Amino acid sequence: MLSNSIKFVFEDKIKEIKNPDPNETILNLIRLRLKKTGTKEGCAEGGCGACTVVVGELKKDKIIYNAINSCIAFTTSLEGKQLLIVEDLIKKDGSLHPVQSAMVNFHGSQCGFCTPGFIMSLFAMYKNKTSYDKKTIEESISGNLCRCTGYRPIIDAAKSLDKNKADQFKKNEKKTISLLKKIRPKNICINNESKKYFAPRTIDELKKIIKKNENAEFISGGTDMSLIVTKQKKDIKNMIYLNSIDELNYIKENDKYIEVGGTTPLIKFEFIIKKYYPDFNRILKRYGSVQIRNVATLAGNIATASPIGDSLPLLLSLDASITIEDFKKKTVIPLKEFFIGYRKTMLKKGQFIRSIRIPVFKKNIFKAYKISKRIDDDISSVCASFNLTIVNKKIKNIKIAYGGMAATPKRAFYCEKMLLNSNFSEDIIVKAQKSLEKDFQPIDDMRASKNYRIEIAKNLLTKCFAEIKNNKLIRLSY
Ligand SMILES: Cc1cc2nc3c(=O)[nH]c(=O)nc-3n(C[C@H](O)[C@H](O)[C@H](O)COP(=O)(O)OP(=O)(O)OC[C@H]3O[C@@H](n4cnc5c(N)ncnc54)[C@H](O)[C@@H]3O)c2cc1C
Ligand code: FES
Ligand code: FES
Repeated sequence: MLSNSIKFVFEDKIKEIKNPDPNETILNLIRLRLKKTGTKEGCAEGGCGACTVVVGELKKDKIIYNAINSCIAFTTSLEGKQLLIVEDLIKKDGSLHPVQSAMVNFHGSQCGFCTPGFIMSLFAMYKNKTSYDKKTIEESISGNLCRCTGYRPIIDAAKSLDKNKADQFKKNEKKTISLLKKIRPKNICINNESKKYFAPRTIDELKKIIKKNENAEFISGGTDMSLIVTKQKKDIKNMIYLNSIDELNYIKENDKYIEVGGTTPLIKFEFIIKKYYPDFNRILKRYGSVQIRNVATLAGNIATASPIGDSLPLLLSLDASITIEDFKKKTVIPLKEFFIGYRKTMLKKGQFIRSIRIPVFKKNIFKAYKISKRIDDDISSVCASFNLTIVNKKIKNIKIAYGGMAATPKRAFYCEKMLLNSNFSEDIIVKAQKSLEKDFQPIDDMRASKNYRIEIAKNLLTKCFAEIKNNKLIRLSY
C-alpha cells in the first residue's frame, strides 16, 4: 500500500501530515507548524544538541526512546514513531518530570538556551539505561553543548535520578503502544512541488522504486545528506529513504565475519563490534554523539567517502568488503577498491550498499586511533588503524590504513611492506615511519597542517608499537 501522508504519535494522539515537504526538518515542523518553541536551533548541523528531541519506536512490544537532532532529521522520518519534545515532559497537573526537577534542584541551567536539549538527552538516558553512572551520563550528553552553566551541575542532576520511580510515560505505555500499532507501516511516496520522496519498507519495493527513479539519491540517517538543506540551503529533489527497510537493519555474526546491514544504526553496531575489536568501539564512542549514532549508518559513512570518515581506515585495515545492489544485480567489492577519488566511489546511479562484511581475525592485534581537536563530537584530523599478527617476534599479515592523509582513506602500502616479515623492533619502526612519507603527501587545511598530519601519522605508528611492546594502552580516554 502506498501513502503520501506521514502518521506519528504526538501528544497522545495520532497526528497525520498530508503530503509534507520532504525537505522540512523536524525542528521546523515543531517550531513553525506545531508552534512549540521549547526546542531550540543553535548550529543547524547536528553539533550543539539544542534541538534534541526524543523519538519513540516500537520494537518487540517495547518502546525504545532515541535522542536525535531535530535540526538534521526530516519530518518524513517520523512515520510510525512517537515524537516527544520538551513541552511533553511536564505533567498535565503542571508538575515537572524527574529529569526537569533534577535540573532545577542541582542548578543545571543558567541562560537556559541549551537546557531543553540537555533535558531531552537525559530523558532518553533515563528511559533506556539501567544505571546512571558517570560514563553513561557523559556519553548521553556528549552531543549537548552548554556555554554558561558548565557540565558539573548537569552531571550531578543526572546522577540524582531514581530509575525505580515510574514516570507518566511508563504509566501511559500501553496506550502509546496501541496508538503506535494503529499506524500500520506503509510504503511512502510523496510528490510535493516537484520534490519527490520515497520510503519503501522492503528491498523488493526499493528495487521497484530504483527502476523507475535511477537518479534519486539515497538517504539513511541523513546526518550528512540533510546538511545540503540546512547548511547549503539547497533542496534535495528526489530521495529514497532507506532506514524504514527493516530487512537491512541487522547484524549477522559467525566465526568468519560480522555482516552489517545497510540501515543498521551505528549505536547498535558499536555494541557488537566491541567483542571483536574493542578499539573500533572506542573510535565509535567518539564518533559524533549519541544523537548522531542513533540514526547514522556505516553504509552512509562509506558512501560519503570523506577522507576523514572515521570508520573507513578501520574497515580498510580489517579488509572489509561491501555488497552493492541495484534493481538487477548484486556485486561484492573489496573496500580497498571502492574509493576512487576525493569523495568519489565506485557506486553508480541506482546502486545502494546492501551490507558490509568485516572479517573476524581471532589472532590479530587490532588498534585504532583518532586525533581530533576535541575528544567528543569532533571530526578527525587524522585517524589510523593497524591490523597485524606477530609470530615468533616477527610481524605477519600487517594492514595499515589512515584517514585524513590523502584525498581518500587509504592503506599505507610502503609502510606495510617495510614492516612485513620484519622483527618488531624500534629500528624497523623508525624506518617504517620514514616510509609513511612515501605513502602520503597530506595537505594543509583548517583541521591540521600537512607537517602536523605527517608527524601525527608517524607518532601513531610509534604509539601502536609502544602499546604492543608494553602490552598496555596509552590513551587519554578509553
Ligand atoms: C554533528 C555531526 C558529527 C559527525 N561526526 C562524525 C564523526 O565523528 N566521524 C565521522 O566519520 N563522521 C561524522 N559525521 C558524518 C556522518 O554522521 C557520517 O558520515 C554518517 O555515518 C553518515 O551516515 P548516514 O546514515 O547519516 O548517511 P546519510 O546522510 O543518510 O547519507 C550519506 C551519503 O551516503 C549515501 N548513502 C546512505 N546510505 C546509503 C546506502 N545504503 N547505499 C548507498 N548510498 C548510501 C547517501 O546518498 C549520501 O550520499 C558527523 C556528522 C554530523 C552532522
Ligand atoms: S541546532 Fe545544533 S544540533 Fe541541532
Ligand atoms: S545554560 Fe546557557 S548555554 Fe547552557
